[in-house]
Order: sequence, then structure tokens, then C-alpha cells
Amino acid sequence: MLLKLETLLHDSILAKYYQHKITLMNTNLNRRNLLKALGITAAAATFTQNAEANTVQEISFPENPDYIPLAQPITAIVLGAGNRGNVYGRYAVAFPSDVKMVGVAEPIPFRNERFAQTHGIADKNRFKTWEDVFTVPKFADAIIISTPDYLHYGPAMKALAMGYNILIEKPISPSLQECLEILAAAKKSKSIIAVCHVLRYTAYFRKLKEICDSGTLGTMMSINHLEGIELVHMAHSYVRGNWHESEKTNPIILAKSCHDLDIMRWIANKPAKTVSAYGNLKWFKAENAPVGSTERCVEGCRIERECPFSAIKVYYEQKKRIHVLDVPEDPALQGPAILEKLKTSNYGRCVYRMNNDQPDHYTSIFQFEEGILATFGLEAFTSWEHRKTRVMFSMGEIEGDNVLITVTDFRTKEVTKWKASEQKEFNNSGHGGGDFGLMQNFVQAVSQNNPALLTSTIDASIESHVMGFMAEVSRKNGKSMDVKLR
Ligand SMILES: NC(=O)c1ccc[n+]([C@@H]2O[C@H](COP(=O)([O-])OP(=O)(O)OC[C@H]3O[C@@H](n4cnc5c(N)ncnc54)[C@H](O)[C@@H]3O)[C@@H](O)[C@H]2O)c1
Repeated sequence: MLLKLETLLHDSILAKYYQHKITLMNTNLNRRNLLKALGITAAAATFTQNAEANTVQEISFPENPDYIPLAQPITAIVLGAGNRGNVYGRYAVAFPSDVKMVGVAEPIPFRNERFAQTHGIADKNRFKTWEDVFTVPKFADAIIISTPDYLHYGPAMKALAMGYNILIEKPISPSLQECLEILAAAKKSKSIIAVCHVLRYTAYFRKLKEICDSGTLGTMMSINHLEGIELVHMAHSYVRGNWHESEKTNPIILAKSCHDLDIMRWIANKPAKTVSAYGNLKWFKAENAPVGSTERCVEGCRIERECPFSAIKVYYEQKKRIHVLDVPEDPALQGPAILEKLKTSNYGRCVYRMNNDQPDHYTSIFQFEEGILATFGLEAFTSWEHRKTRVMFSMGEIEGDNVLITVTDFRTKEVTKWKASEQKEFNNSGHGGGDFGLMQNFVQAVSQNNPALLTSTIDASIESHVMGFMAEVSRKNGKSMDVKLR
């Protein structure tokens, strides 16, 4: 009886919907007006909403049973007050009862001043370079290492020697030897050391991991993971920006994708044994420079209006990613300052005329223990900027697009969908809430002096870094490589 009523209701809704479709296209109706126009009662509307709610379940952050509110905030010193240093700085502003920034080392005066002002840092605790911080006695609970990749090892070793707890940006170091030395020093120390694998702290990846670990889909067979960098992000960071020369920073597989290697290792729950990798720089090269293009976009380039990489469009018109340009926030001053930077910095240069060498497409195949196979694709040429993951099991499959997780059980044919939203109070923190999620966990681990409260430990991170180092050797040598710590 109920079913019949529902079918009738559904059919009449559909009929009315199509009758009104044309009208609706011309009228700007909100949802309530739409339902009214279709003659759907409040009860029917509720029915529709419940049906939607039943098919897609919201992923919320699980309550952390280990969370203990702090009696007083932990204190931290930021080394490198650039992009990432300020991400963790914003956490301190949003959650003053968790962490207080009490020191900064930053050579660029504009950034040093801005950070000190924002956090009320005393002059005596403002330093030009990371080395200076370690010339004075320990004055905080933690050191946040957000200097460029090649400047992680020095501060990490000093901080461990002086008993600071550490939050260290990824990649840990461009050198495998340095990574191993940091690991060895961390093992001898009593410090908490967390690596900024922020994806592990998102609601989405935590759910993915939970489903993989549950065993409900049988034996894990394969992982198929794709990271779309998005073409303008690629141009910004790996053609024009900080990471355009692999020798001076890190190969892109580590610089961009150590998160992804870490996620694959995490969900496989087994060590990787071998890797075969392929990749090259195919597009961002001089031979592809269009006729009429110039050294800089502002020098009268004839194809600038149709070029998706135009620095004028990205930085001057759309004001995207301008934090790297250190320009004033006042809109009256900002425009001219951006144009000046496009004349003088790498961010104004033609993407086909840089001295870049990072591959713009890269595929690797990992073999994990127990025969789990994983393919990983790193692609510059996507219109979207996130990850897509499929995990195949003997009795089911998982398909994830960074927001929606669809689980199919082969035995029951049941399809379950999960949709992630950022943890409410973590909205606007980057990486799907992972940036602030990581900070909250780090603060808890330090305040409770309990490293078990972190999942992105130095051991796990070094292991996934080794996957990246070996992938790069394989890509360059054209040989399959063993993934071994030594
Ligand atoms: N976890 C993530 O998702 C993520 C994302 C982007 C970058 N990163 C990593 O974070 C780190 C910082 O990257 P970023 O994007 O913030 O770069 P950035 O260039 O914006 O910031 C680095 C800062 O370090 C400063 N610096 C340089 N030399 C220094 C010194 N001797 N002492 C103190 N400070 C010094 C620079 O002036 C700069 O302000 C890098 O290792 C990067 O790979 C991680």
C-alpha cells in the first residue's frame, strides 16, 4: 500500500515536473517555490529529501576520543613564514587556545614583519634565518619547519638536538641520506615529530582508509590513483615557480606527489616492493612556444589573450596565487605592484621559455607485498585539481573523486555512497580541512606528549618518500627498482 502511494506520488511529481519545466527555465524559482509550483506537499518534500539523504551519507570527522582541551596553548616557532608557515599561523589565529606563535625566522623583511605583527612576536624572538633560532636557549614547545625543501635537514637536526618537538613540511629532504639521518636522530630523541602529510587528516581520506581496513570487501587487489595537478597550477609551481628545477628542489614525484605515495602506502597497509616509472617533460618547452609569443607575457605577446597560462590573466586579472608576489593588500596599490612583479620575477615569464625540467606527465606502477598492484598517474593537463582513487577488492570496489566515495559490494550488489565535507570549524583551511586537521593532531600529540596521536609519523613518511626516490631512479634509468630503505 505504502509502496503504491509512493509510486503514485513519484509519477505525479514527475508529470508535474515536466509540465512545469519550460516555465521553470524562464522563472528564477527557489527550492520552496519550485515545490509549491509542483504541488508537492511538505510531507512529500520531506520524503524526497530523506530518500536523497539515505543514498548519500555525509562523512563527518569522527569524534576524537583522545582529544583533551588544553589548559594553556602550546608555543611554536615558525621557520620560513611563506605560504605554508602562514597556513599554520592561521591555525594559531583561529584556535588561540591551542597554539601561540612565539618566534619566527624569515629572511624576507615583508614576510617577517607581517608574521610578527599578526602574532605579536617580541623583537628578540624575530630572526633572519633558521640558524639564528638555535643560537639562543630553547624558548618554545615546538618548531615548525616550513622553509624550502633543501632547508629542512639543518633545522630538523638542530631542533632534535635541542629537544624541540617538530612539525616538518614534506618532502622531508631532497636527499635520501638526509631523510635517513633525520629518522635515526628522531628515533634517539624523545621529541614528537610529525610530517605534514595533510591528506591523512581529511574526512575523505580517513573514510577511504576506514573502508579499506574494514575487510568488508574481501582481499585488496589493486589501487588506481590519479593526481590531477591542473594546468595553471602546474605552470605556477613547476614551470615558473619554486619547484621548476628538480635539481635545486626536488623531483616532482616527491615535491608534489609524496602525499599520494603516502596515501597509497597507507591504504595498501603493506610495504611497497618494486616500482617502474615513466614520465617526461613534453609540453612546457621552447619548441612548443607559439609564434608571436614573447619572453614575458607583458612584452606584447601576440597570443596572450588566448593562452591559458597568461600571467596577466592569472595574476593581474584573476588575482590567483598572488601570495607568492609579496604585493600590498590595498587594491589601489596591488594592481601596479603585480604588473611590476610580472616584469621582473619568474611569474611573468613565458611558460615555454623557462629553464624548467619537471615532467608534466608521470606514471608509476608499484607492487606492494601480498601482490597488491598500484598504478599512480601524475598529470599536469587536467582542468581539475585533486585526486581520484579506485581500490579493487575480491568482493567489491571503491571509487573516490576526492569528495564522493562510492562503494559497491559484488555479493549484494549494494551501492553505498559517502560524501565528504570539511570539518565545520576547519572550513577555509586548505587540503579539504587537512591542514587544520593535522595541526589539531600535532597540538594534541605535543600537549599530551603522545606520538601515537599522529598517523603521519616520521617512520611511515620516510617509507613513502623512499617509494618516490626509487620511482625517480626508475624513470631516469628505465629499470624497475626495488623499494628498500637502504
Ligand atoms: N604540506 C603541503 O601540502 C605543502 C604544500 C606546499 C608546500 N609544501 C612544502 O612546504 C615548504 C615551504 O613551502 P612554501 O610553499 O611555503 O614556500 P615559500 O617559498 O612560500 O616559503 C618558504 C619560506 O622560507 C623562507 N626562507 C628561505 N630561507 C630561509 C632561511 N634560511 N631561514 C628561514 N626562512 C627561510 C623563504 O623566504 C620563504 O618565505 C616546502 O618544503 C614545500 O615543499 C607543503
